[in-house]
Amino acid sequence: MQSAHDRRVPLFRPDLGADELDVLRDVFASGWVGLGPKTAEFELALAAYQQRHHGVATNSATAALHLALKVLDLPPGSRVLVPTITFVSTPHAVEYNQLELEFVDVNETDLCIDVADFESRIDDRARAVIPVHMGGQPCAMDAICRIAAQHGVTVIEDVANAQGGQWQGRPLGSWGEIGVFSFEAKKNMTTGDGGMLVFDDARWNDALRRLRWCGIDRDTWKRFANRGESASWYYEVDSLGFKYNMNDIAAAIGLCQLRKLDAVNAKKRERIARYLDALEGVGDLVLPPHDLAHGGYWLFIVHTDHRDALIDHLAQRGVTCGVHFMPAHLHPYYRKRHPGVCLPVAERVWKRIVSLPLFASLTDEEQDHVVESICNFFAEAKR
Ligand SMILES: Cc1ncc(COP(=O)(O)O)c(C=O)c1O
Repeated sequence: MQSAHDRRVPLFRPDLGADELDVLRDVFASGWVGLGPKTAEFELALAAYQQRHHGVATNSATAALHLALKVLDLPPGSRVLVPTITFVSTPHAVEYNQLELEFVDVNETDLCIDVADFESRIDDRARAVIPVHMGGQPCAMDAICRIAAQHGVTVIEDVANAQGGQWQGRPLGSWGEIGVFSFEAKKNMTTGDGGMLVFDDARWNDALRRLRWCGIDRDTWKRFANRGESASWYYEVDSLGFKYNMNDIAAAIGLCQLRKLDAVNAKKRERIARYLDALEGVGDLVLPPHDLAHGGYWLFIVHTDHRDALIDHLAQRGVTCGVHFMPAHLHPYYRKRHPGVCLPVAERVWKRIVSLPLFASLTDEEQDHVVESICNFFAEAKR
């Protein structure tokens, strides 16, 4: 018989199955698996879901963030403000573009960008800000967009953690000039790896399509689909683009995952409600607020002074936890590049945060095991 100690609860489990296998069969049968019609269909579908005019699909959010800043064509010396608690791809995008990176502190509760700190760091070289909806917690987008507009600062929303979430009735990713999504393996919806930029400004549409496809002026499938045109093999490269395109295998999975996204998020919110009920008042745990009607949460993060011991205790019971994220400015690369950065809230709070297992197929039994193990940890600590 399986004992409590043999039980394994992963941090994430992707929601992939028969539906995705069916659409893959169709793509394989079509004979076109590269950047093509499925990618175009996925771009239209996600843009519509996000209430935006355009979508440009990439092979990751990291690539999409790189291109989001690139397409703004900012003058050298421009400053880009980024919250320090995020995956390193967010600040990396600023470095890739050789712009000036300015780290910003975060709120203690939801780990999102501290709006007052953001505003205080704006100067006449500040040109863009990348608020990150941390773990799915919505940033205060109304205030951020208002302040940014006053100072001519472009808002690129990093929605990698918050697919399907809303803030004040508007989809996350539809507030800033550009929204960037991730479909990496563990996210609310996945294509294995993948990303997308969504935006309204038509000027960026062509430029982004070229940038994500080596600077080539016409997608291959469009050239080959139009066989009546004698020069279908011909293309020109007018900019130093990147090999960042999505392919139709990923896009077909993405279309399928998008159809399930609301249901997946609803199930995740049910799991969050259950955690909130069961963990209220346990040990010194602090449970951040959650919007149980509209949230698109990737993570369920709790705060405790006993973070490392709790993670070890849970690991011994087969429960995998995570830490999202160590402040980016503390990584050796950024310490060297930006010495002397001091962001007191992030530096204090990150030592207390732990992400618990959260995914749509988390069963009652698995979740009860996580909760019991946590209760048991604090009961043992008391003795
Ligand atoms: C906040 C944030 N931004 C960007 C990324 C990068 O996403 P991708 O793996 O699709 O490049 C991640 C990945 O976890 C993330 O958490």
